[in-house]
This record gives sequence, C-alpha cells and structure tokens, in this order.
Amino acid sequence: MVLYFIGLGLYDEKDITLKGLEIARRCEKVYAEFYTSLLAGTTLKKIEELIKKEITVLSREDVELNFERIVLPEAKEKDVAFLTAGDPMVATTHAELRIRAKKMGVKSYVIHAPSIYSAIAITGLHIYKFGKSATVAYPEGNWFPTSYYDVIKENKERGLHTLLFLDIKAEKGKYMTANEAMELLLKVEEMKGEGVFTPNTLVVVLARAGSLEPTIRAGYVRDLIEEDFGRQPHVLVVPGRLHIVEAEYLVEIAGAPQEILKLAR
Ligand SMILES: C[S@@+](CC[C@H](N)C(=O)[O-])C[C@H]1O[C@@H](n2cnc3c(N)ncnc32)[C@H](O)[C@@H]1O
Repeated sequence: MVLYFIGLGLYDEKDITLKGLEIARRCEKVYAEFYTSLLAGTTLKKIEELIKKEITVLSREDVELNFERIVLPEAKEKDVAFLTAGDPMVATTHAELRIRAKKMGVKSYVIHAPSIYSAIAITGLHIYKFGKSATVAYPEGNWFPTSYYDVIKENKERGLHTLLFLDIKAEKGKYMTANEAMELLLKVEEMKGEGVFTPNTLVVVLARAGSLEPTIRAGYVRDLIEEDFGRQPHVLVVPGRLHIVEAEYLVEIAGAPQEILKLAR
C-alpha cells in the first residue's frame, strides 16, 4: 500500500491542500510529527475533526530511530498518512524517510503545502536573492553552535539575504523567539568579532506566517531586540544588498527606518 507525506501548511488546519485533506481522510491510519515545526493557529483536535480521524503524534525519536518499526510495517499493509507542518520536503529530514520507505519496499507520495521557504517572500525580499539558510540552535552545556554566523557572513559577502530558522525543542515546549536569536547572534559576534551581526545590523522578523495578519518587522537589532513579536513560530532574516523596491517595501510594510532607502540600489 502507500505512505503519503502530507504537508499541513503554515498556520491553521485550513492550510492543508484539498488534495492533502482528501487523501488523509481516505487513509486508514494517520500519523503526524510536530518537532520540526508548529502551527500556531490550530490544535491537534481541530486537525483531527477536519480529517475525521484520530492522529497518532510521533516524537523525534519515533521518527528518526523507529520509523521502520512503527510506521513502515503498517504502510506495507494499508494506506498511511504522515502529516508535517509546512511542506514535508522543505527544511526537514523527510527526504531521508522516503529513502528508508523505498528500501523497505513501501511506495510513497508527497502532497506539498505552503512552506516558510516561500512565505518568506511576504517580507518583500526577493526570493531569488536568498543564499544558504541556517538554524540558530540553543546552546547546550559546553556546546555553543556558531555556524549560522558564518553562513550570514558568506551570504553578506555575496550580497545575499540569509533566512534563519529558529530552534525548536518540542519535548520541552521551547520555541526560540527572534529576540533570543538576536541575543545569541550578538554573543557569537562578541566571540568572533568579525562585524557580521552588531546592534546596527538591519534585520527582518516574520512571525506566524500563513495567518492573515503575520507580524513583519524590519529595523536595527538594537531596536527590534526589545520588541514583542507575539507568539512563535518566528524567523529572522539578515538582508544582503537591497534593491530599491525591497527597501521601499521594508519601509512601507515592515516599518523600517526611512534611512535604509539610502542603502538600496
Ligand atoms: C525546520 S523549519 C520547517 C519548515 C517546514 N517544513 C516548512 O516547509 O515550512 C521550522 C522553522 O521554520 C520557522 N517557521 C515555520 N513555520 C513558520 C511560520 N508559520 N511563521 C514563521 N516562522 C515559521 C520557525 O523558525 C521554525 O522553527
């Protein structure tokens, strides 16, 4: 039988596509994971009511270590849906799950959905001018990851924008805010001192993309670090070289200071 990877989209239960919904309703068993992203505008119960099925939520461990034991044997016998926030193949590890399904002889299909990767265009920054993206991870014990700082540096050198995903520790109910990400970046700046991310760096924050009124704010780190962007999920963008239309949009729609128009070409 078939394993369907179905995207839930970005904000509430209505972000799933009609195709995804019809297939999920038809499947005999429905699984979901919420450790790679979250939907701020809905609940598991509401998704279950829409799909008309009980959903079994899997932990990171269930998916990463026990997929062959929990999900794949069932998908050999019946049609199974596996739901993921956003698009199942974007900025998640689910490409690897398809390989594992194929190796066990399970056919799989992907049903796309709105993703943070395309929704970021609502910041007005041109999507084709984004370079490599990175995740700002929570430090743990002696481990203080800093590679996201280097990604911003490389992108900036090429005039490209950097999209920063913010860490999720679903098992602890921790979802990083853009403010926490800015604080971590300032700490890395103190450690490395390369002038990549300072209080005077221009940044853009997008919160709750997919809702009708997402928060879109642009300004300097020194100002935005104090702002409240509302509930997570948040992303942080460090713009590269700005085109005049991008700068105008940031001023008009995202409240950036007028003076950024001078930076644009
Ligand atoms: C690893 S990515 C997963 C992306 C997902 N598969 C997709 O296609 O949208 C998850 C991160 O993206 C960001 N994110 C996801 N949904 C968001 C939303 N609706 N608004 C703002 N940021 C979001 C958060 O930083 C979150 O920690």
